[in-house]
Amino acid sequence: MTKTKFYITTPIYYVNGAPHLGHAYTSTASDVLARWHRLQGDDVFFLTGTDEHGQKVEAAALAAGIAPQAFADRVSADFEDMAKTMNISNDDFIRTTSAHHKQACQTIWKKLEENGFIYLGAYEGWYAVRDEAFYDEAETALKPDGTRYALSSGAAVEWVVEPSYFFKLSAFQDKLLAFYEENPGFIAPTAKRNEILSFVRGGLNDLSISRTSFSWGVPVPGDEKHVMYVWLDALVNYLTAAGYPDDTAERWSYWPASLHLVGKEIVRFHAVYWPAFLMGAGLALPKKVFSHGWWTVEGEKMSKSLGNFIDVRPLVQEFGLDQIRYFILREVPFGNDGDFSREALKRRINSDLANGIGNLAQRTLSFIGKNAGAAVPPKGALQEADEGLLATTHALPEKIRAAMEKLAFHEALDEAWRVIRAADGYIDTQAPWSLRKTDTDRMNTVLNTLCEVLRTLGVVLQPFMPETMSKLLDYLGLSKDRSLSVLNTPLIEGTPLPPPAGLFPRVVEAA
Ligand code: MSP
Repeated sequence: MTKTKFYITTPIYYVNGAPHLGHAYTSTASDVLARWHRLQGDDVFFLTGTDEHGQKVEAAALAAGIAPQAFADRVSADFEDMAKTMNISNDDFIRTTSAHHKQACQTIWKKLEENGFIYLGAYEGWYAVRDEAFYDEAETALKPDGTRYALSSGAAVEWVVEPSYFFKLSAFQDKLLAFYEENPGFIAPTAKRNEILSFVRGGLNDLSISRTSFSWGVPVPGDEKHVMYVWLDALVNYLTAAGYPDDTAERWSYWPASLHLVGKEIVRFHAVYWPAFLMGAGLALPKKVFSHGWWTVEGEKMSKSLGNFIDVRPLVQEFGLDQIRYFILREVPFGNDGDFSREALKRRINSDLANGIGNLAQRTLSFIGKNAGAAVPPKGALQEADEGLLATTHALPEKIRAAMEKLAFHEALDEAWRVIRAADGYIDTQAPWSLRKTDTDRMNTVLNTLCEVLRTLGVVLQPFMPETMSKLLDYLGLSKDRSLSVLNTPLIEGTPLPPPAGLFPRVVEAA
């Protein structure tokens, strides 16, 4: 049987500044999905990388007094380091300054030109370097000090007048609307879909796709005074990594992408411009663009002026990797905005991880170590309480699958925690410590049931907390096949179990 292909991407990150919580968030969410699909047995290609061209990066390099390429090399390496720290399981890391990417950009440009969708003109209008975006005047407003800014992002805009190539975006309005209609799941969540639909229904202007006032970009083929607009360059990364323009490349079988996961401010680029470019070049369109929300930090927007950018790496040092991964996916319904605070983080670690799954595992496994021969206990006749808990447990993988399908990470975790609470209640009522004196067969059945609960939790939670769940599965004596399908085979009674250690230490408040 051929495996289902699943090609998932993060946005590629601008290298004008250091990686922060927002980037770690998009990457971690994508990583959880990639790992989930691998667990399901899909053939996954997971891409992340860095967006290295454009005016913003050029300006940052200039400010740092370093040549743009050397600057991009340094910051891109820092993004790779962040991915490593967060245990991101990407299959490739693309850099837009690579030779292959440049070739991919120039090829698609020529294709669009050949197909009659590019013409030379002059751009006159507003541009926000911070957003690398063109804005209509109606999308901007004046500040009291007379400077103009983009309403959607707050970024300063400047008036730009320069020769420019244009992409005939206006020719794609009806085609895009028909595509959204036929593919209602293309943009999610629904509120975002509605916003994009009304933007496209409002009419599309042709899009300026080259710049001449700086040179840090991919040269336009045949007219090298121009560099390509950084968003055209950037979006093409998803094709480059799949082998484009070589459609015989093995990677090409992953195209079209299954999912572009993006923050809410860049949906327009992914859900309007990108499908239009692809239609113009005669290429297949991605299946889905999912928009997630933004984090504030202790109630404030992360910003340079406030100096409150959170680097996740020291947090990982302080609280533990899986603790941070868990927190960012549990705290906020995916798609909504959320606030990051140390208090909320500590609360979640203590209540959900240390007192929740950590305590359940420790209670069960250390009891087995001391009182049940440090091996998977044998199962006797099941009673109603066992059957009830096992039914809840065995329903969990499907519930998680359904939640993951709609990227409802918080719901997936919530389902798992329902099982944890049920198991806690079960231990209290079954009281294995009393059974030890009165009925060891029954005690073993209760412990076997708990091992089955822990095994199921350990397997399905691997995508969220890979390191810790791998430890838990080690403590349960599981062999190396830890995909969802192992849950179809019974636990092997008598498997010796190593001495367990605590999974999640409690965070102790500084006095
Ligand atoms: N380079 C473009 C993407 C090109 S993709 C073809 C870009 N880069 S970015 O570095 O500015 O942002 C990348 C991602 O980080 C976006 O998905 C964005 O939403 C996310 N975040 C940046 N700040 C964020 C928060 N404060 N909170 C959550 N995510 C945020 O855009």
